[in-house]
Amino acid sequence: MLYPTLLFTALALFLKWIFTPPAKLRHLPRVSFFRVLWSYANKETEEARIRKLYIPFMQEKGEGVAISYALGRWLIHILDPKIWRTVADDAANWPKELPPSDMVFFRFVGTKNVVFSNGETWQKHSTVVHAALKRTLPIEQFTVLTQKLFKRMGDGGLIKWDHWTMRVALDAVGTTILGYDFEAVENDNSPFLKQYTTIMDALSIPLFLVFPIFDVWFPRKDLINNIDALIARFQAILDYKRENRGNDMLTYMLEEPSLTEEEYRHNMAAFFVAGHDSTAAALSTLVAYLAIYPAFQERARKEVIHALDNKDPDSHNLANMQFLYACVLEALRINTPFPFTAPRVSPTGATLHGSNGKSYYIPPNTSTVLSIASLHRNENNWSDAHTFNPERHLDTLTGKTKIDATIWVPFSRGPRQCPARNFAMYEMRTVTALLLQSWEWELPPGSPHAIAPQNVFSPFGLSSPKDLYINFTKRG
Ligand code: HEM
Repeated sequence: MLYPTLLFTALALFLKWIFTPPAKLRHLPRVSFFRVLWSYANKETEEARIRKLYIPFMQEKGEGVAISYALGRWLIHILDPKIWRTVADDAANWPKELPPSDMVFFRFVGTKNVVFSNGETWQKHSTVVHAALKRTLPIEQFTVLTQKLFKRMGDGGLIKWDHWTMRVALDAVGTTILGYDFEAVENDNSPFLKQYTTIMDALSIPLFLVFPIFDVWFPRKDLINNIDALIARFQAILDYKRENRGNDMLTYMLEEPSLTEEEYRHNMAAFFVAGHDSTAAALSTLVAYLAIYPAFQERARKEVIHALDNKDPDSHNLANMQFLYACVLEALRINTPFPFTAPRVSPTGATLHGSNGKSYYIPPNTSTVLSIASLHRNENNWSDAHTFNPERHLDTLTGKTKIDATIWVPFSRGPRQCPARNFAMYEMRTVTALLLQSWEWELPPGSPHAIAPQNVFSPFGLSSPKDLYINFTKRG
C-alpha cells in the first residue's frame, strides 16, 4: 500500500512542479501548460501555436507579455511592440541566454559564433561577419543557381516545391557564404543534405524538445555520431578553404586572423543553419501565395518581364520590381520564417512598460523571447492581418510611408537583427523574378495549401510549408 501512495504522491508533486510557474513568475499572464503540451503532442506548428495561444493575450486581454512552459523551462513571450523595441534595441542589458548545455542541437551548431555569443566576443564576430557580407552581393550566383534549378524542373508539371527551395537555399549558402558547392540542386543524393535532414528529423521529436533532459538520460548515439560526422565535414571545408580561396564570405572571414579555428567552425555551422532553412521557408511561402492569388502572380510577372527586358537580374532592374518587392515583404510578414527569436535574459531584472499602459516586472535571468509572429498576425497592428495582401506595402515602396520597423520584424531589429537581411531579400527577389519570367504556376485541385500554406512542425519552430505540390507550366 505504501509504494502506490508514495508513487502517486511523487507523481502529483512532479506534475504540480511542472504545471506551476516558480513564485517569481506567478504575477505574469500565463498560457495553460496543458494547452501547450496538447499543441506539441498534436505536432502543431509554432505559428499556429502563437496564433491560438499567445496572440489572444495581446489582442483580447490587452496584455504585453505571456509566459508558458516549453523547451524544458518557463519562457516569457514579448507580444507588445513597445516592449519588443525596448528589449531588441538593448543588447547590452538583454544579452542572449546561454544555451542549455544538455540540448544536443548545440553540439552541432556550437556557441562560439555570431549567433550565440554576447558582449565583446559577439562584437568581434559581428564585425567580421558584417564586413564579409558587405563585400559580396551575389545576384549573379543566385541567377546561375536558379538556371540549374530550371534544368531540374524539366518541362514542369507537378513539382514538390518545398523540396527544391531547400536545395536552392542550401546551395546559395554553400556557394556564396562557405565557398563550397553542396550540389544539392544537381545531385539528388547530396551527402551533406542527407546527413543534415537525418539530424533535423531526430531533433524534431517532440518529447526531446519539450524535455531536453531526456537526451542526457537516454543519449541517442546515432544522432550524436551523425552530428560529429557533419562537424568533421565542416572542418574539411575549412581546411580546403585555407588553401583554395575564392569570392565567398568564408574566404573574407579567413583574412581576419582574430577568430580561432573553433570559432570559424561554429560560425560556419551557424550560417548553415540560420541561412538556408529560413530562406527556403520564405521562398516556399511566397511562391505558394502567388499560386493562391493568380492575379498577384500575373501582376508581378508583367512588372518583372518589363523590368528585366530579357536581361539577367541585377541590382538596377530588381529595383524596378516594386510589386514583387511588396510580395516578398508580405510573405515575410504573414508566414514569418522565425516566429520568435532566441531567448534573451536580463541579468539584473527589469520592469518593462507596454503600450497598453501596463508594466511587467521580469526577474533576473528569466528566458524571454521576442515573438515575431505575434507582431505580424495581430489585428491591432495590421488590418486583416491573416490575409495575404502585398498592396498594403505599396505606399512604403513609393516612399509615401516608411515600413514600420516596430511591427514588421522578420529579421528582428536592433543590434542583433539578421546581418544577412540584404542577402536573403536579394536571393528571394532574384529567384522569384526568374521564376515569374519563365514559368506560370497553380496549386493542384484539392491542395491542402489552397487557402494558406500549411507549415511543418520544426525543431526551431520555423514556419516552413511542407508537401507543397505546385503545377508549373513553362512559358513560351
Ligand atoms: C528570409 C531569410 C531570413 C530570415 C527571415 C532571418 C531572420 C533572422 C532573425 C529573426 C534573426 C534574429 C534572431 C535572434 O535574435 O534570435 C536572425 C539572425 C541571424 N541571421 Fe538571419 N534570417 C534569414 C536569412 C539569413 C541568412 C541567409 C543568413 C546567412 C547567410 C542569416 C544569418 C543570420 C545570423 C548570423 C544571425 C545572428 C545575428 C546576431 O545574433 O548578431 N540569416 N535572422
